[in-house]
Parts: sequence; structure tokens; C-alpha cells
Amino acid sequence: MNQDFTVTPWDVSGKIDYKKLIEEFGTEPIDNDLLDRWQCLTGSVPFAMRRKIFFSHRDLKWVLDRYEAGEKFVLYTGRGPSGHTHLGHLMPWMFTKYLQDAFDAPLYFQMTDDEKFMYKPELAQKEAMSYAYENALDVIALGFDPKKTRIFSDYEYSKTLYRIATEVAKKITFSTAKAVFGFDNSTNIGMIFFTAMQSAPAFLPSVEAGKNIPVLIPQAIDQDPHFRVTRDIAPKLGYYKPAAMHCTFLPGLGGSDKMSASKPEMTIYTIDDPKTARKKILSAFTGGRTSIQEQKEQGGVPSICAVFQYYYYLFEMDQEKLDQREQKCLKGEIMCGECKQDLADRVVSFLEKHQENREKAKDKIEDFIVSDYSATYDKLKRPQDKKEVAKLKKTMKEYCSVKDGDRISIEKCKNFK
Ligand code: TRP
Repeated sequence: MNQDFTVTPWDVSGKIDYKKLIEEFGTEPIDNDLLDRWQCLTGSVPFAMRRKIFFSHRDLKWVLDRYEAGEKFVLYTGRGPSGHTHLGHLMPWMFTKYLQDAFDAPLYFQMTDDEKFMYKPELAQKEAMSYAYENALDVIALGFDPKKTRIFSDYEYSKTLYRIATEVAKKITFSTAKAVFGFDNSTNIGMIFFTAMQSAPAFLPSVEAGKNIPVLIPQAIDQDPHFRVTRDIAPKLGYYKPAAMHCTFLPGLGGSDKMSASKPEMTIYTIDDPKTARKKILSAFTGGRTSIQEQKEQGGVPSICAVFQYYYYLFEMDQEKLDQREQKCLKGEIMCGECKQDLADRVVSFLEKHQENREKAKDKIEDFIVSDYSATYDKLKRPQDKKEVAKLKKTMKEYCSVKDGDRISIEKCKNFK
């Protein structure tokens, strides 16, 4: 891997050269021919593709060939629930929602609470499960179709996933896992197995349908190593290789690096109150000059500006308006303060709407979450540390009160078109 940056499923850092990543990972760029084809097929190209936020793919052309031949595909994506959702997470999920609408596609959404429990030394199982619930609210708030969307956590859906995961695991050697993920002798064995759990949902639609179903996985590019392995072993198990669309990372408010929970003051969470969000934006890194005078004379530098990136990634979909803003900045006609205030207004109104939908999602959760979970484990486990229980009780109460039978059954989900 290049020395200036790192992109693995568990570590993203440095200034990422996405062109180089395409070469290193061996994916294909989403080029203008593909955009033209997309335009013909769906009638428009979403800004996230036009701006090359979704910039890379595997076998996308094949999925579209199939689609044109009348074979519909299923979408699969996921989240590692180790904390609250931030805007960087929403970006690929919003795109997935667009895909669901554009192609009338069912979505399987995996919450890898097991992965996060095994990876993070400090994270308790119940904490990861409770984040899975919290994060699911954000997914639902984006407006996915409950009839076509299934959200599950690995801990709560493992009976369904496990048999497929073992099919997969049987085909992956330790030496492959080491080469792909950089594991060594100090890696816990759960992590070595985990990629098999992440592969499982890519084959679940085919298992359920009893025939091969094309699957498209929208994802941030750091997840590609998992699916490289999935694709490698798919034919050995008689499944189609899942296709993929990869996106770049939303930078943090501090500039270059990705938005990340390790820098909360540079990160906007979906549950941030308006005051907090505004404050974070007003202290963001910009491409401004040291004085207003200088900025008027020389103009700002949008290419290094975090605020401009937020317009680019999420908050100015209109290309003409984005170009105008860029030009104004370059010519010194707009100052950073104004640009930040504009962005803060947009972010706050987005958050208010999202938080409203997130509240409503609490009543809809049963329409989305599937589970084959048995409560035996929780019943048998000795009472935990009182403080921890108190902390988790509020969310867990809601979460655990959903009985197996209350949730949509797997049978009902089989009626996906
Ligand atoms: N491992 C991913 C994460 O840590 C979560 C995930 C599971 C995922 N399945 C996926 C992401 C499929 C993208 C596509 O975030």
C-alpha cells in the first residue's frame, strides 16, 4: 500500500489518492461511457456519480446487462455499529436509497455488531447491539421502502447467516486472509473468520430464491477487500459474483482526512443539536486567506476547503450553483464567514428534518428489522455491571421488547420481487 495513505476496512488515514486505489485494488473507474449508459437506462445521472463521489465499481456493467435482459438485482450494504451515525455514513446510504428507487430493488442491510465487538477492545456486545438499533433508525429515516428493505444485525440474524458464512469460510485460507487484510499471529481468530459473515448477505438472496440473483453492493471503498474475497470464492460455491459501486470518504471538517468518530469536534452526528452542529461548522477549516483584504484581492482556495467539500458532497446538488459558489470564492467575492453560515443553515435544516424522521422511525422499526434471535443468552447471562445496565436499559428495552414473532418473518421477506 502507498505510504502516504492507508485504506483498509479498519483503518482509513492520510491523503487518499483514489486513482491509485483503483489501480491497487484492481477495480474499474465509473467513466463517462458508463454515465451515458446510466443516463439512457434511468433517465438521469445522480450528482454523486456525476461528481465521481461514487467513482469506482466491479462488474457494474454486468449488473446493468442483466437488468436490461430483465433480471433484477438486489442491493446489499451495511454498517459496523460502533458509535452514532455521522454525515459521512449517510452519504452511501442516501445513494443506496436512490438506487432502491431507481431500480425498484430490494435492500439487505447488515449491521455487523459482531465485527465491532471483536475488533474494538472496549466495546461491549450490548453496546454494539444498541448502536445497531440506533444506526438502524438513521437508515430508516432516509425513507427506504419497508416492503423492500430488510435490516438485520449479525447477533440477531446469525442462524440465517451462519450456514452461508461457513460455506464461505471453508473456501478461504488463513494465508488469503493474511494477505488481504494484513492479519498476523496477534489477530484474534474472530476477526479472521469475520469476513465470511460479511460475505453471507451477498449470497442470501440466491439461497432464498433457490436460483442465482445478481447482487449490487454500494459501499465506501475501504470495504472492497472483503468483497474481493467474496467475489473470488463465489464461483466455487456456484453463486454469482456480487457487483460493487465504491464511494470516496466525506472529509472531516478539519480538512483532508475522512470524517471520523476519533475526531468528534470535526464530525457532524445525526443526533447533534442545531447549536452544536452550527458551532462545528463555524470552526471548520477553510481555504480562506489570513485577512479579508487579502481574500478580496487573491480569492480563496476551494480545493482545500472543508466547507466547500460539504457543498460538493451533500449540500449543493445543483451543479450550476456549486460552480457559481466556487467562482465567487476564487474571485474573492464571498468570504468564509458567509459561506460557513450558509452551510450551517443547510446542515441544521437537514438535521432537523432527519431527526424528525428518526423519531418516527422508532415506530417503524419492526417493519424493517428481521431477527432469528433467541433471548436465551440474555436470560442466562449473569446480571451485568449496574452502571452499564442503566446506561443501556433505555435503548435496549425498546430493542429487546420486539419479540421474534413480532418481526417480519423470513417467509414474508421472500415475497421480494
Ligand atoms: N464492515 C462494514 C463497516 O464496518 C459494515 C458492512 C457490512 C458493510 N456489510 C457491508 C458495508 C456491505 C458496506 C457493504 O462499516
